[in-house]
Order: sequence, then structure tokens, then C-alpha cells
Amino acid sequence: KRVAILISGGGSNMLALARSMTGDHPARPVLVASNDPQASGLEKAAEMGIATAAVDHRPFRGDRAAFEAALLEPILRAEPDILCLAGFMRVLTPAFVQRFEGRMLNIHPSLLPKYPGLHTHQRALEAGDAEAGCTVHEVTAVLDDGPILGQARVPVLPGDTADTLAARVLAEEHRLYPACLRRFAGG
Ligand code: GRF
Repeated sequence: KRVAILISGGGSNMLALARSMTGDHPARPVLVASNDPQASGLEKAAEMGIATAAVDHRPFRGDRAAFEAALLEPILRAEPDILCLAGFMRVLTPAFVQRFEGRMLNIHPSLLPKYPGLHTHQRALEAGDAEAGCTVHEVTAVLDDGPILGQARVPVLPGDTADTLAARVLAEEHRLYPACLRRFAGG
């Protein structure tokens, strides 16, 4: 299976996924694409020998469809079987999602359905939750919704800040996402 990974920044989840796709793994990374040409994950992907592409979303202003049409070019050229959103911070239109319905995954840093959207760790702390975590789900037209492939839980510890909780969850993301992708790609 050919996997394209979409990132917006450091790409630590992309690296975890790319590093997991070796040996008898049923998938291989064929492209890392970003909405930010400065995303440091692009450099890391190139160092791993993975093809990269970047389409800056800012010139498109609010014209999501035009941005996505530009982003689709390198993605379709890579002929991916699976799309993995990994720290990708742009909302995708239903039209884009429909193209990859059933073969596009995302990782979200909360125990969905709790805390869709942003600032998930701050919200968990403010709610006084005893635990937090992350979710890998299939991407559908509804943001941070869709069938759940897997979740990982971490305790919220006394004195936690959004940053300390985020770091604890991120470590779990790097384990959960590769495990979910391997199962998903294996059929
Ligand atoms: C992190 O907040 C992570 O929880 C979420 O996206 C952000 C960046 O992840 N999935 P990455 O390091 O770019 O993979």
C-alpha cells in the first residue's frame, strides 16, 4: 500500500509513521506534503528519502477549494492508496474528503468524542479530567468525527500544564498511529 502523509509543522507523527513502514509492513510512505513550505517535517522526510511537496495555503486566502486543487496535484501524482493526516492543521472540504473516503486517517490529541477541535489539553485540564489521550479515526466530512480505529489513554498528573500533558499524549500518538496504520493497511 502507498501512503501519503500530510503535515503542517514538525511532523513527529509523520516520522513515527515513516519509521514504522519497514520490513514486512504492508505499506510504504510515497509522499509527505504540507500546507507550509517552511514545515520542518519536510526536511526530515527528505532526509529519509521520501518525496515531498508543499503548497502554501496563505496565497489562497479563504479559497479552500483552490488551495486543495493545488495540493491535490502532487498527492494524485504519488498515487496513494491511503492518506494520513499527521499534525495537519487545515480543515479539508467535504469534496476533498470524499475523494479519499474510507482511506484517509487522522490522529487527534483527545479521547474523541471529547474535545474535537483545538486546545484539547487545556480543555481537559480545565474540566478536571483524570485522564486524557489521543484518537486515530477515519476522516469524514465532519471535523474530528468518523469511525475510531484506536485510542490511547494517559493519566492527568498533579501539576500538569497543557505542555506537560501534550508531551505525554504525543508520546502515545507516536505508538498508536503506526499501530493503527499497520492494521488498516493490512486490511
Ligand atoms: C500535535 O499537537 C499532535 O498532538 C497533533 O498535531 C500536533 C503536531 O504533531 N496530532 P506533529 O509533531 O507535527 O506530528
